[in-house]
Amino acid sequence: MTNNLTFKSSLWKTTSGKMGDLSISALWTVIGLPVSLISTLYFLLNRRKNVVLQDKVVFITGASSGLGEALAEAFHQCGCKVVIAGRNAEKLEELRDRLNSRKQDHQHSPAICILDLEDHDLGEKVHQAVAKVWGKVDILINNAGMSYRGAVADTKSEVDKKLMVVNHLGHIEITKAILPYMMKQNSGHIVCVSSVQGKLPIPHRSAYAASKHALQAYFDSLRAEVDHQGIQVCVVSPYYIRTNLSVNALSADGSSYGKLDQTTINGYDPHFVAQKIISCVQQGQEELILAPFHVKLAICLRVLAPWLYFKIMARRARKELGKNNNKKII
Ligand SMILES: NC(=O)c1ccc[n+]([C@@H]2O[C@H](COP(=O)([O-])OP(=O)(O)OC[C@H]3O[C@@H](n4cnc5c(N)ncnc54)[C@H](OP(=O)(O)O)[C@@H]3O)[C@@H](O)[C@H]2O)c1
Repeated sequence: MTNNLTFKSSLWKTTSGKMGDLSISALWTVIGLPVSLISTLYFLLNRRKNVVLQDKVVFITGASSGLGEALAEAFHQCGCKVVIAGRNAEKLEELRDRLNSRKQDHQHSPAICILDLEDHDLGEKVHQAVAKVWGKVDILINNAGMSYRGAVADTKSEVDKKLMVVNHLGHIEITKAILPYMMKQNSGHIVCVSSVQGKLPIPHRSAYAASKHALQAYFDSLRAEVDHQGIQVCVVSPYYIRTNLSVNALSADGSSYGKLDQTTINGYDPHFVAQKIISCVQQGQEELILAPFHVKLAICLRVLAPWLYFKIMARRARKELGKNNNKKII
C-alpha cells in the first residue's frame, strides 16, 4: 500500500514536472515569441531620429495666442527661423518684439505673415510669404483653430461651414502651398494640431469634432503619400489646454461663446504641449495623443465597444440638456 502510494506520488511529480516544462514552452510560443517578434519589428521600423532644429524654417499658424504663441517661443529658443502667421498684426508684432528682446546669438528674428484661414487666396498668400522670407519651409505647424458650442438643431449652417474652413480646409490650402518646397528638398515635417475630440466626439461640439476628425483623416492619407519623399506628418490630439479657445469659440447662432470653461482652466500648460510637439518633430513621431489615461481608455472603448460609448454620450447629452433647460446649451 505504502509502496503503491510512493509510486503514485513520484509518478505525479514526474508528470507535473513535464507538464510544467511543457506549459512554459507553450506559453513562450503563444505569448513570448509573438511579443518579442512584434517588439523587434516595432524597434526596427520606428528607429527614432533626432532632428537638429537649429536654423530650420518653421511656419506656425495661429501664432498670435495660446498654443501657437508657446510653439513660436519654443521653436525660436531652439534656434529656428520662425514665421509667425495669423490675423492679428498687432499681437504678432508684440510677439516678434518680445522674442527679439531676448534673442541670443544662435537665434533668428521671427518673420510675420498676416493671413486669415478664410482668405480665398490663402495658398497664394502663403506661397508669396515663404518666397519672400527664407525661400523654404522645413516644418509646418497647422495650429490655428476655433471651437464651438451648440446643439445641431440650433446651429446655423454658416457656423458649420466656418468651422470646417478654419479647422480643416484652410490647413489644406496652406499645406498645398508649402508642400512643393518640401518635395523639392526631399524633406520636411507637417504637424497638425487636431484634438482628442477628433477621435472622441462629444455632444454639443459637432462642428468642431467633425472638422478635427476630417483633419486627422486627410493628414493620415497625406502621410502615406509623402513618406517616400522624406516628408513626415504628425497629427497631435491634445486634451484641454489652458488657452482662450473656449472664449473665442462660436455659439450655434454665430455669436461669440465668450466664456472660459472650467475644463480649459484645468487643462495642460501650453508650454508643456509645445515641448511635446517639439519632441514629436525631433523624433519623427507620426501621432501624439496627449490626454489622461481615462480619455485614452474612452478612445479604445469607441473602437472596441461603440454601443457602450454611444450610450454614455447620450446620457451626457441628456444631462447637459437638463442642466441648461431653457438656457443656451453650453
Ligand atoms: N485649448 C484647448 O483646450 C485645445 C484642445 C485641443 C486642441 N486644441 C487646438 O489647439 C489649437 C490652438 O488653439 P488654442 O487653444 O491656442 O486657442 P486660441 O488661443 O484661441 O488660439 C487660436 C489661434 O487660431 C487663430 N485663428 C482663429 N481663427 C483664425 C482664422 N480664421 N485665420 C487665422 N487664424 C485664426 C487665432 O488667431 P486670432 O488671434 O487672429 O484670433 C489664434 O491665434 C487649435 O487648433 C485648437 O483646436 C486646443
